[in-house]
Amino acid sequence: MRKSANVTIHADKIRFPVSSTLYGLFFEEISHAGDGGIYAELIRNRSFEDTLVPDRCHVENCKLHSPAGWISPFEHTDPIPGWYTQISEGCEAEIKLDDELPLNETNPISLRVEAASVPHGRVSVCNTGFWGIPVRSGETYNLSFYGKKADGFQGDLEITLEDRSGNVYAFGSVTLTSGEWLKYELTLESDRDDAEAILAFSTQSAGTFWLELVSLFPATTFLHKKNGLRPDLVGMLQQLKPSFLRFPGGCFVEGFSVETAYRWKKTIGDLSERTSHWTLWQYRTTNGLGYHEYLQMAEDMGLEMMFVVNCGLTCQGRPGEMIPMEDLSEWVQDMLDAIEYANGPVTSYWGSLRAKHGHPEPFGLKYLEIGNENFGPEYNLRYRVFYESVKEKYPEIVTIWNTHWEVGTETKGLPVEIVDEHFYADNDFYQQYHDMYDHYDRSGPKIYVGEYAMIVDNKTGTLLGALSEAAFMTGMERNQDLVTMSSYAPLFANIHHTVWDPSLIYFDGTRVCGTPSFHIQKMFGEHRGEYVVDSYVATESRSADLYGGLGVEEKALDRIRDLIVSSGSETLLRLNRLSGSQPQCREFHGTLWIGDPSWSQYDVSVKALLGSEGIRLRLLDRHLPWDKQNYLLWELDSDGESRLVRIVGWSRVKLAPNRKITVQESDWQHMQVTIVNDTVKCFLNGELIHEYQSAPIPYLTSVSTLDRTAGELIIKLVNPSPYLLETEIHIHGAGNVPVQGIQTVLTSGNPKDANTIDLPESVSPKDSDFKCDNNVYPLPPYAAAILRIKI
Ligand code: AHR
Repeated sequence: MRKSANVTIHADKIRFPVSSTLYGLFFEEISHAGDGGIYAELIRNRSFEDTLVPDRCHVENCKLHSPAGWISPFEHTDPIPGWYTQISEGCEAEIKLDDELPLNETNPISLRVEAASVPHGRVSVCNTGFWGIPVRSGETYNLSFYGKKADGFQGDLEITLEDRSGNVYAFGSVTLTSGEWLKYELTLESDRDDAEAILAFSTQSAGTFWLELVSLFPATTFLHKKNGLRPDLVGMLQQLKPSFLRFPGGCFVEGFSVETAYRWKKTIGDLSERTSHWTLWQYRTTNGLGYHEYLQMAEDMGLEMMFVVNCGLTCQGRPGEMIPMEDLSEWVQDMLDAIEYANGPVTSYWGSLRAKHGHPEPFGLKYLEIGNENFGPEYNLRYRVFYESVKEKYPEIVTIWNTHWEVGTETKGLPVEIVDEHFYADNDFYQQYHDMYDHYDRSGPKIYVGEYAMIVDNKTGTLLGALSEAAFMTGMERNQDLVTMSSYAPLFANIHHTVWDPSLIYFDGTRVCGTPSFHIQKMFGEHRGEYVVDSYVATESRSADLYGGLGVEEKALDRIRDLIVSSGSETLLRLNRLSGSQPQCREFHGTLWIGDPSWSQYDVSVKALLGSEGIRLRLLDRHLPWDKQNYLLWELDSDGESRLVRIVGWSRVKLAPNRKITVQESDWQHMQVTIVNDTVKCFLNGELIHEYQSAPIPYLTSVSTLDRTAGELIIKLVNPSPYLLETEIHIHGAGNVPVQGIQTVLTSGNPKDANTIDLPESVSPKDSDFKCDNNVYPLPPYAAAILRIKI
């Protein structure tokens, strides 16, 4: 099936230079992206703290309960994950967690090994790494650990890398000499390749000894740094040609309680001085990849640095905890100290510590994001304090407002330089809103699209998901005078503990796999150009699906009455009062779903009392769970502010200008909505308040940039449709250039095609020469193409 399309480019009409920071990386400690991921440590549970329950939380039936009532998995049936014993027949031994006489305050637990009887053979305590310790023949591994022994144990330990059947790949030995904690180090060289080796400490004599902070790093880390990074994973990031690194999260920064929030000061210094902490991504982080290492990672990759600081709020959606305003100064000081650590002179307190940690030169931290996905009056209050404190002391730091639920640059009159907008939505959302930023106010703050990914029914990371994102990215590129930064999220996931799909890059101990989205990011990152030029697309399109029932908050039920839904002369529903027991209604986690999710064209009439909490009326609600949710939301606040927005997945987009209406909280309001064809109109007491016309979804989206240095025009074409698009390309302002050059095309037989760790290159771009007949470029169905044309 074919369709035709047109792209007209004015190569001589420069709109603006490209934003050098448009594409960056968002690194979060999620799905073992750090520990068991890019952080090259090979020992899992190296400090024996993985099963520590965070303060003020409790565990019941493998569920962790936070002080604020958040419940999340805590599936540790094994008290010492990652460790086990191998005991020769006839020997007796056991291992235990021990909190007596710890190494120090930040390492409260050690492993006590009691070899009660070893008449022959050996007693070994073994670590299995992060789902296997990958070793390579000829590679050296640096082992360090703290150990001590009880009286009576002669202290000789054999240390080996081996397989589970006892075939040894590398051998070393150590004699524990003291009853006090001492650090021991040795190198091991493997003579074999094995993706799932173990590390064993073995004794052939009886006695008791303790282990703590057992660490094993390959000598080959990125740039051969100590406490360094996995080169293959860094290599994947480098392929994206990023310009900045945002770290360390994400919700990881927020935590679900004060104790699980990110506190950078606990993550610096010698590994033995760092505190591990439980993350809201259901594992404990060692913080071996700490604040210093993040700065170092960015510097070593040549990236600008963006630190996301906790602003005194934990994740509000989970639900959260708030640091009271009167106690906020400690958190504000943490932020100021973080900046001093990164940028201060060596004569400053924190700058001198940085120097002590091996980096006398300032790092040059540039961006500071205040909070992550926090919102509401609580955020606004805290934002102001953080913003003013940072600007007073470090006016050169560029601050970022973390808006989540207020997408549309609503910064409530606060001073804002950059707004971070997040989108996790479905295919249609990205394709339909490819032009979202065409309509943004240029006089407001700059935009950082800090997190985005197609997440609905996209666990594997499909080609179609990547193309939808690419359609949206053409819009970001066309508006990069405004959208100056962006980063896909999440970046990494270890296939053995993935808590969020899709992620951009999947890996295990030895293998990596970029999703189709990875390839889109790479293609767009590689082919930047220097200037955005004028270009126009003429394309056929399809209508967005507008269908769904209604929804209201259950807590507002007694403030809603006389609901009538009609379609033409037919009454679809009439309810004087709403409740979950009515056949047309269904309760879903605090929301009452009303009517039939397949309804499409209808009118709604309802009476509502705003009260102090206002009314939220869902329209065209497909009645789907949160990650797939899809509806229009008319929000009417008690103060008369009215908003019409669309919620898709975890995304929110403004559909019409906000309005301020004079209303009385205590008066019944008449809310009416008409949905005719692609137009939704909201009336309050007979007055039209919002009107929204759903835009069609184009088959083709595009952006063109000029690379003056290379003398090339770069045309990006994205086609998420099933049609081959015969795309006529007209280039003006560059002489009579033939439409030919080099093309990079990402496509595959099926839009659902994805890459896997076993077949990581199934969907990957191909480069080749191309030459158009009659200037018509045949853009395949389900494809993104980047054309470079000499002009
Ligand atoms: O990218 C995964 C999570 O999505 C981030 O931690 C959070 O900021 C967002 O909700």
